[in-house]
Amino acid sequence: METVVSGIRPTGNLHLGNYFGALRNFISMQNEHNCYFFIADYHSLTTHPTPHDLHGNVRQILVEYLAAGLDPEKSTLYIQSDVPEVVELYLFLNMNAYIGELERCTSFKDKIRQQPENVNSGLLTYPTLMAADILIHRATKVPVGKDQEQHLEMTRTFGNRFNRLYNVDYFPEPQAFNFGNELVKIPGLNGSGKMGKSEGEGNAIYLADEPEAIRKKVMKAVTDAGPTEPNQAKPEAIQNIFQLMKVVSAPETLAFFDEQYNTCQIRYGDMKKQLAQDMIAFTAPFYERIKEISSNEEYISKVARMGKEKAQESAAKTIRDVREIIGFKRF
Ligand code: TYM
Repeated sequence: METVVSGIRPTGNLHLGNYFGALRNFISMQNEHNCYFFIADYHSLTTHPTPHDLHGNVRQILVEYLAAGLDPEKSTLYIQSDVPEVVELYLFLNMNAYIGELERCTSFKDKIRQQPENVNSGLLTYPTLMAADILIHRATKVPVGKDQEQHLEMTRTFGNRFNRLYNVDYFPEPQAFNFGNELVKIPGLNGSGKMGKSEGEGNAIYLADEPEAIRKKVMKAVTDAGPTEPNQAKPEAIQNIFQLMKVVSAPETLAFFDEQYNTCQIRYGDMKKQLAQDMIAFTAPFYERIKEISSNEEYISKVARMGKEKAQESAAKTIRDVREIIGFKRF
């Protein structure tokens, strides 16, 4: 059975990008694989959350994992900081990760632009911490969105480098994974190419959004004056709306608006109304389950404790092996 690892940072509620890029795959993989899904709370420290926000956000993601259909009996669901073995592996990997390659990482360059007042070394070594998350369970498959592709490439580099350095065949090569074969990037509503928490107000639709909030955000989505010629290429903001419709609406609905666009009859107001309705229908079951699970404190704690135990067992074994390989032998 293949081992699968993936995580999500606790930076707020989960949005449709997280769902289609990652969570949907977590749910379908849990039946046939040895799965570890975690909440990347160490990673979130790069943005200096308050203790109160950090705790609340971790809890929220755990609730949303369960609400979306992750089963703690099938998958190991855990909080990253419950498994500090990850940090030891992170330290070992950092010894063989070079400043130049870390500085060239696209997500690091983006962060420098986004938070110039806080370019900390956690941002620089973000890919080695992520590699440690994956390699700690010696995973081969990692369900993630397209934005994580480079991090996966770096994980393979670090694992292979460790193998070469110590002349072992210990870490396998993990591959980014999506059921649809291609990694996905779900666009945002404000013309931005990516749905994300940090991509601006109104850009993301959250699984926990109330229907009215979804309607408001969708109706404000960026569009234009409409096509002037038949079969005209769609500008990016319009493509985004169509792409969102593709993931939440019926194929006939998408085909109908596509035809309307190609014959210059499209009314974006109608299209957005339909999109909002389909998004509300899509998120409704999550919304209800989130409310239900959120009030069950005992269950949430039990899931976290169970996950911690199972994840630690696997991580402790890897750390024992790695210490031995490196030469940390006890006298
Ligand atoms: P994060 O928390 O930014 O996002 C979590 C997951 O959601 C995917 N995602 C998207 N997919 C498609 N379209 C979008 N608009 C979109 N926005 C987010 C991300 O690709 C990701 O799969 N570094 C990771 C967390 C992490 C991790 C790991 C992942 C830490 N260690 C080990 C896998 C394995 C991150 O920041 O994801």
